[in-house]
Amino acid sequence: MRNTGSIEVRKLHPLFGAEITGIDITRPLSAREFGPIRAAFEEHSVLLFRDQPMNDDQQIAFSENFGPLETTLSANPAAGTKFARQSNLDIMTGEPIPPDDMRMIYQKANYFWHSDSSFKRIPSLCSILTARICPPEGGNTEFLNMRAAWDALPPALQATIHPLVAEHALAHSRDRVQKGILSAKSLAELPPVKQRMFRDNPINGRRALYIGAHAGRILDWPEPMSKAILWELAQRAEQPEFMMSHAWREGDVIVWDNRAVLHRATYYDATKHKRLMQRTTVGGDELTVPQ
Ligand SMILES: [Fe+2]
Repeated sequence: MRNTGSIEVRKLHPLFGAEITGIDITRPLSAREFGPIRAAFEEHSVLLFRDQPMNDDQQIAFSENFGPLETTLSANPAAGTKFARQSNLDIMTGEPIPPDDMRMIYQKANYFWHSDSSFKRIPSLCSILTARICPPEGGNTEFLNMRAAWDALPPALQATIHPLVAEHALAHSRDRVQKGILSAKSLAELPPVKQRMFRDNPINGRRALYIGAHAGRILDWPEPMSKAILWELAQRAEQPEFMMSHAWREGDVIVWDNRAVLHRATYYDATKHKRLMQRTTVGGDELTVPQ
């Protein structure tokens, strides 16, 4: 346990993740209060706050400490708001959505390791997820430390991928669930974008491998080689010792750094249990590569 001003920072995993206690983040924070939280975020990549039940306004206020929020795209049930809704409950009626409904099938892409908004020209900085209703079992969120994944790559492979550019698109991850699942409108508002294969932290210089389910191919590489290297990088990254799994309790808030970790959802029985998580996403401030 390390005391940083008024907050306490307790590491959750040898490589990353920290629980922050000693502060109420449901109320407005001063710059002096937020400073140590931001520093912990840059260092630990995943921050957990427990027993901080929030409504939507409180979540937006807390999230905006990290920067301006992205607006949710038309593919999500909460389109046009600041929220990406992760839930099996109908947004209008509050009743469970049938498992064969497209809204449930669409969410299955969250079971693949990904970085939120890597399919946008300027990819996101971080996501904030709050647990409003949790199932009694299942529905963990898992995190993969991509700094450790980068560091573990052989130097020759690091050198190979250093100049490469990957094409990211929401369609790449959604097609893995069901080909053609995205509407023409969603496809039109989300043309494929280019991303570098790594992201550097501007504060501490730590480099992280930048891949995930939205990455579909390497530009200017033949298809088989392109698929093979993305597969190899994913296999090398998905080491159990680079991974952390979080079992949610209502009132939990997690902030994760989309530059430094991949994450994925895990199964819960959506026919038996209710789940409502609200995600806000803080936009990034630069392209990773010229478009
Ligand atoms: Fe996500």
